[in-house]
Amino acid sequence: MQTGVPIATTSGITRVAVAPEMGNPSSSETPNTVQRIGVPREVFPGEKRVATVPDVVGKLIKLGFTVSVESGAGDAANMSDDAYRAAGATVVEGAAQLWASSDIVFKVRAPTAEEVALMHEGSTLVSFIWPAQNPELLKQLAARKVTVLAIDALPRTLSRAQKMDALTSQAGVAGYRAVIEAANAFGRFFSGQITAAGKVPPAKVFIAGAGVAGLAAIGTAASLGAIVRANDTRAEVADQVVSLGGEFVKVEYEEEGSGGGGYAKVMSEGFQQAQRAMYAKQAKDVDIIITTALIPGKPAPKLITAEMVKSMKPGSVIVDMAAEQGGNCELTEPGQAVVKHGVTIVGYTDLVSRLSTQSSTLYATNLFRLAEELCKTKDGIINVNMEDDAIRGLTVTKEGNITWPPPAPKLPAAPAAPAVKPAAVVAKPKGGHGQSSAPASGTRTAVMFGVAALLFWLIGASAPKEFLAHFTVFVLACFVGYMVVWNVKPALHTPLMSVTNAISSIIAIGALVQISPIAGAVDRPDELIRWVAAAGIVLTAINMFGGFAVTQRMLAMFRK
Ligand code: NAI
Repeated sequence: MQTGVPIATTSGITRVAVAPEMGNPSSSETPNTVQRIGVPREVFPGEKRVATVPDVVGKLIKLGFTVSVESGAGDAANMSDDAYRAAGATVVEGAAQLWASSDIVFKVRAPTAEEVALMHEGSTLVSFIWPAQNPELLKQLAARKVTVLAIDALPRTLSRAQKMDALTSQAGVAGYRAVIEAANAFGRFFSGQITAAGKVPPAKVFIAGAGVAGLAAIGTAASLGAIVRANDTRAEVADQVVSLGGEFVKVEYEEEGSGGGGYAKVMSEGFQQAQRAMYAKQAKDVDIIITTALIPGKPAPKLITAEMVKSMKPGSVIVDMAAEQGGNCELTEPGQAVVKHGVTIVGYTDLVSRLSTQSSTLYATNLFRLAEELCKTKDGIINVNMEDDAIRGLTVTKEGNITWPPPAPKLPAAPAAPAVKPAAVVAKPKGGHGQSSAPASGTRTAVMFGVAALLFWLIGASAPKEFLAHFTVFVLACFVGYMVVWNVKPALHTPLMSVTNAISSIIAIGALVQISPIAGAVDRPDELIRWVAAAGIVLTAINMFGGFAVTQRMLAMFRK
């Protein structure tokens, strides 16, 4: 708010917001009164979502905030003003009053120019922004001297950030809805059935792109009983496709498709040709194609040509989720469902809004989790901590300064770069004392070896012969184990553990000896020991084969 306007809140707190006289408010001007979260009605045509839901309002209040909702904000998502009131929110008439009285605004769509004009200095906005695509909007927001957290800029590779990942929650809803739209337009069952009236074959669904939306579509189509196949340029998603009940169809061309951060890259012409041939084959065979292929910041790759559409069976369906970015199918009309060559091509760009109750609830929970991170003290006052990787990634303007793009994320698992030794360390002064650390550590190693050898000699001189043999093996095993672990990167310690676990199954030899006595031995082991040995062999076999299989899968995750 612009000047010292008293705001009466439902919680009974009367707050007087004072705008700083000039310039950006410094951190010393951090407000010390409870902050109000405002949720306006979405103005984008056809947008039915709302940024918070009554169930979440109570949780925000527990964090110490007060909450205002613009009247009618939740109508399209089936959340009435009364439900918000019952949850403890204040219902405000009109956008102007809502924006003026809020310290923090939670929104779904990026603000329009009119909405930006309603923002007051020092306030905070959390919404989708798409900063790479909207540089102008970023400048306008910075000019208002506000702090903006773009929910779409969350560093998705941080596992801690997953609970705030609105891109994932919304794309999951869209993937689900894409299958429902396909089922709606398709004239048959998804699952195969044998009825008195005849046999119904299962529908065949092909999913292009197995990112978040694609995986949700695979799971949904499989649960409806269809035969699901999927392809993605990132080979590492093959396991996920299979685990959701799909079959991964490979392109017969060796090329790595990962562009880092869980996203794809533009593939070579050779790969694209091989991919087109495979897609053409699938188009002739399947009933439904759902395309979700996306490379961030690039136009959608054209995967389904007009020829492929022509080759599909009449009554087939294509749902092109990438319609908004130009479409993965040549014949898609964004926002429309059209029939071309007997194939229904659905290009809806509002799939998430078509499940607005669900998507609003998930989005509201994402924003609540973010509010928890911003307000760890639970006193209703946020702290946009730029030292926190997740918050830093999200923050695109801070108190009027554009802070996007963020610096590259730190990679904790990477081995530390060897420290560059200063020249003085390398040059050892003749006859002087060892000032450098390298010679010092060399001397220390020599001394340690000397002491170890002396101890070994002492033990050897006094201990029995059998003990010495076992002891030698033990010491060598410790040494080899130490050297192996020491030279492995921390990120690979888990696969190392599982492979050593598998190798430890060598104890199976002991059980084998017990179960089948050595040729010529007089004593046969009694029956009980043989059964115990048999159980030992079974368990160690599971350990051995399982250990190697798990190691193999874990290492596959590290292969580029
Ligand atoms: P994502 O980035 O998680 O997944 C995209 C996948 O496409 C990645 O796995 C990538 O490897 C793959 N891919 C890229 N190029 C490919 C190629 N040439 N061939 C095969 N696979 C390729 O993205 P997300 O979140 O799953 O979204 C998917 C699409 O759905 C996007 O275009 C997004 O804008 C759209 N979407 C549409 C909605 C609607 O209402 N129509 C709603 C939500 C998302």
